[in-house]
Amino acid sequence: MHPDDPQDDTTALSELLTQRFGVSPDVAAAGLDPQAIAALRVIAGQTSHRRWSARAVPAEAVRLLAACALSAPSKSYLQQADIIDVRDPGRRAAIQAIVPTLPWLSAAPALLVFCANGRRFERLFDRRGKPYTNDHLDGFFNPVVDAALVMMNFVNAARAAGLVACPISMVRNHPKRLAEILELPRRVVPVAGLCVGHPAEARRVNPRLSLDATFHLDRIGERDDDADCDEFDRRYVATREAVLPEGAPAARPWSDERADQYANAQRADWGDFVRSAGFDLG
Ligand SMILES: Cc1cc2nc3c(=O)[nH]c(=O)nc-3n(C[C@H](O)[C@H](O)[C@H](O)COP(=O)(O)O)c2cc1C
Repeated sequence: MHPDDPQDDTTALSELLTQRFGVSPDVAAAGLDPQAIAALRVIAGQTSHRRWSARAVPAEAVRLLAACALSAPSKSYLQQADIIDVRDPGRRAAIQAIVPTLPWLSAAPALLVFCANGRRFERLFDRRGKPYTNDHLDGFFNPVVDAALVMMNFVNAARAAGLVACPISMVRNHPKRLAEILELPRRVVPVAGLCVGHPAEARRVNPRLSLDATFHLDRIGERDDDADCDEFDRRYVATREAVLPEGAPAARPWSDERADQYANAQRADWGDFVRSAGFDLG
């Protein structure tokens, strides 16, 4: 099924979660009202899109979604996330040149870059005449977490508005170049790009590791990660095989694909870039 198939919400949510995890929690037993189940159906139907219809996404719509997204919680109320709506064709082309393997990025009606901004906080100490005593890894981690929360809030806001999205960490493949293109000041670093548009197709949800592997009651402790991975590999291959066009090569296990994807060093210069942007990671 697709996330928006016409079906009653309880059945649809249960089927979506079964596709995701192999087994669904008991939706009816959760004791939620129908509006809550309808809202959860939308959240559970999240899927990344990489093809867009030709319909534009106006700058004012992006600004509205950004306002909703920036309403996310913020660590210590420090407000260390920024969003850049990249509209200028020259800058869009320059970012596309960083990721030549993702031609669908140029085609996206909107391209945003979510940034971790440690600059305002540092400046605040200057203005208040206090020593900046927390210049260490936490001072980098907090704005990154804020930016990630804002990005996910943006994805949900976009989906509520009938749009779809795909995060792009590959824009960080050449972080210095991206910082130049976007004129990022000191202590502002990109966390991820986000392509946004109207969907060109319905997409099935992608499965996830079982809830037994990733949802825990009270403690994590030691688990058999290999068994969790094997179980997921089997479900992943079965999901892929179910939609393979005739004659296509057999689906490969998730663990094989991921190990291949990360077999070569990626973004090994990221730490140097973050330090050169002014963050102390000590
Ligand atoms: C922080 C982040 C960065 C991502 N970067 C990329 C990317 O550079 N290119 C891409 O095609 N997908 C990217 N994705 C999307 C993931 O590939 C996608 O979420 C994953 O394959 C699971 O698919 P789903 O979101 O449809 O369930 C990114 C996702 C996240 C959360």
